[in-house]
Amino acid sequence: MRTQVGIIGAGPAGLFLAHLLHRAGIGSVILESRSREDVEGTVRAGVLEHWVVGLMNELGLGERMMREGHFHTGISLQWNGERHHVDIQELTDGKRVAVYPQHEVLKDLIAGRLADGGTIIFGVSGTTIRGVDTDAPAIDFRRAPDGAVETLACDYVVGADGFHGPGRQTIPSAHRTEYQKIYPFGWLGILTHAPLSWHELIYANQHDGFALMSTRTPDVQRMYIQCDPADDIAAWSDARILDALHARLDIGDGWTLHEGPIFQKGIIPLRSFVCEPMQYGRLFIAGDAAHIVPPTGAKGLNLAVADVLVLSRALEARYKRNIRDGLDRYRDRLRAAHPLRRSRPGADLADRGAPAGRELCRAAVRLSQSPCQIAARSQSASQDRGR
Ligand code: FAD
Ligand code: DHB
Repeated sequence: MRTQVGIIGAGPAGLFLAHLLHRAGIGSVILESRSREDVEGTVRAGVLEHWVVGLMNELGLGERMMREGHFHTGISLQWNGERHHVDIQELTDGKRVAVYPQHEVLKDLIAGRLADGGTIIFGVSGTTIRGVDTDAPAIDFRRAPDGAVETLACDYVVGADGFHGPGRQTIPSAHRTEYQKIYPFGWLGILTHAPLSWHELIYANQHDGFALMSTRTPDVQRMYIQCDPADDIAAWSDARILDALHARLDIGDGWTLHEGPIFQKGIIPLRSFVCEPMQYGRLFIAGDAAHIVPPTGAKGLNLAVADVLVLSRALEARYKRNIRDGLDRYRDRLRAAHPLRRSRPGADLADRGAPAGRELCRAAVRLSQSPCQIAARSQSASQDRGR
């Protein structure tokens, strides 16, 4: 089998890339190790920045998102028993985020790709990248664990294969540098079947720590509680989690959290990770394969899409005008202007104990500005490549 761009991973990075390339007339094939049902059924991120919403619409994939997604125009910050509303829409000249779960985005991207005649091979195993330092790279894989080895020959390989995939590991260790920052706290995250308790997200720092009340759908809520990263989840019974959420979220004004059965819980140690460069020979890595941000900024999905927006423009310039410098610049994309260091308002809140109101508002404004900054960067990067 042969294609122009061989993509490993049908997550946000891989699927958005395939759509962007298709729009530019460039062929691709996606190899994905999980089943379609698994990819479409795993609840992960939930917050789409305004420019990702715009991109979904531009690609003709936004119809269900616009119908079923929920648009948030602000957030609430709480400390010392008081709730403060931050109107992000007003502070950003009309920008707002969409709460539309990642797996719903993926369903729309997969259906769109298949409707366009695109190829996504689910359930592959033994994915091996080879020849990226030659002009003839290839990916070997099996459709079933005991199946024959097949080869996808391509011009370029993109590792959009998440943190644990083979993409990053294919860059020889002598050519790659990995940076990691481990924060001294964790977030205990839960998913619960319960109705919405408030019309927007609440970031709270009171009682004995930080809590975030987020959402996925009108019936599924996502909450986080700051905790010791070394805690054993078994020590957190559902009752203890709910007590902590009430202590950190209730402000004594009669409002209270709506409870429901908790169907998923886990402790996320907070860390940031960056690998550079993001290119080696004809291999490019994108999204979680290249960088991990803690869940505090609701950034991971959005950064993955930002990567492939830049990469797709660079590939388009290469194929249509034989201009390679966009691809060369993608290599050091993180070094230039990555928002990693300035997009963790939740980490800021949790880090500082009981910070002053002004600091909290600054953190919120940073949160609200980050989408424009990324979009502006992506646009200027692509304009650069068009020159
Ligand atoms: P992934 O989504 O990990 O996709 C990689 C794909 O590659 C996977 O489908 C994997 O199966 C496949 N793969 C791996 N190895 C192979 C192989 N050898 N062969 C073939 N395929 C392979 N981000 C936000 O922006 N907002 C949020 O609110 C948010 N909340 C989150 C909540 C949770 C609980 C989690 C876990 C993450 C959250 N994130 C959030 C982060 C976000 O989900 C990730 O950053 C995003 O999925 C990254 O996309 P990706 O395409 O780079 O990688
Ligand atoms: C989520 C996580 C965040 O850190 C945030 O700021 C907003 C939402 C979430 O997972 O829903």
